[in-house]
Amino acid sequence: MPARRQPRFVVITGSDTGVGKTVLTAWLARRLRARGIQAVALKPLCSGGRSDARALHAANDGELTLDEVNPWHFSAPLAPVLAARGEGERIQLPQVVNWARAVGRRFDLVLVEGAGGLLSPLGEGFDTRDLVRELRGTPVLVVPNRLGAVGQMRLIFEALPRSAKARAQMVLVGGKGGDAAAGSNPTLLKEWLPGVPLTLLPWVTGGAAASPASGRRISTALKSLTAALQG
Ligand SMILES: Nc1ncnc2c1ncn2[C@@H]1O[C@H](COP(=O)(O)OP(=O)(O)O)[C@@H](O)[C@H]1O
Ligand SMILES: [Mg+2]
Repeated sequence: MPARRQPRFVVITGSDTGVGKTVLTAWLARRLRARGIQAVALKPLCSGGRSDARALHAANDGELTLDEVNPWHFSAPLAPVLAARGEGERIQLPQVVNWARAVGRRFDLVLVEGAGGLLSPLGEGFDTRDLVRELRGTPVLVVPNRLGAVGQMRLIFEALPRSAKARAQMVLVGGKGGDAAAGSNPTLLKEWLPGVPLTLLPWVTGGAAASPASGRRISTALKSLTAALQG
């Protein structure tokens, strides 16, 4: 039997926790799968509950078990590295990378959601940036669209592994609610990070549970990002 080619990895990261990574990852998984792409979403490490993993498990249409979507989970609502140590575990980068590659062999495209922001500690001496580097992933940088977004986006873009910068995709989430900067952020981002593709993601009631198929706005917003990830 011919060996399956290496999957394409996409690493969904951003400026912080609570910025919309899980919602975006679930929407992307659903949209890619609806287009017939063998895509799956993973959340290697969860701390303080497994709601992210459950959302991604649902978006995968049950293609993987919850434990396959999320092998490492710890109850303390702390950075995963500390939550793991609290339960006597020390998670090492090769464990996570080898697991992602092994699961990935069954798929064409693997979406991997980090935890926290790009440089938040994940395990022993590694963060989401290391996952981007080791998996040669396409980084998707998620930042809330409000005053300060341009600075945050520039910080995480600059922190990317050099080789990953050319593949980076930017996503601004939301932007309604009276923040005057939300309207001008896209223009300013294009000026300061020229050539880096930008997606504006609407704020949609229901979050991850709102299927792209049910929302023309989501489908439209994700069209070029989905196409870019397919390669
Ligand atoms: N585009 C969006 N539309 C509606 N709700 C959203 C959107 N993005 C995020 N949310 C909501 O914001 C909160 C944080 O989003 P989440 O995706 O869990 O962030 P992260 O994964 O970065 O921690 C959740 O309650 C989620 O439902
Ligand atoms: Mg999340």
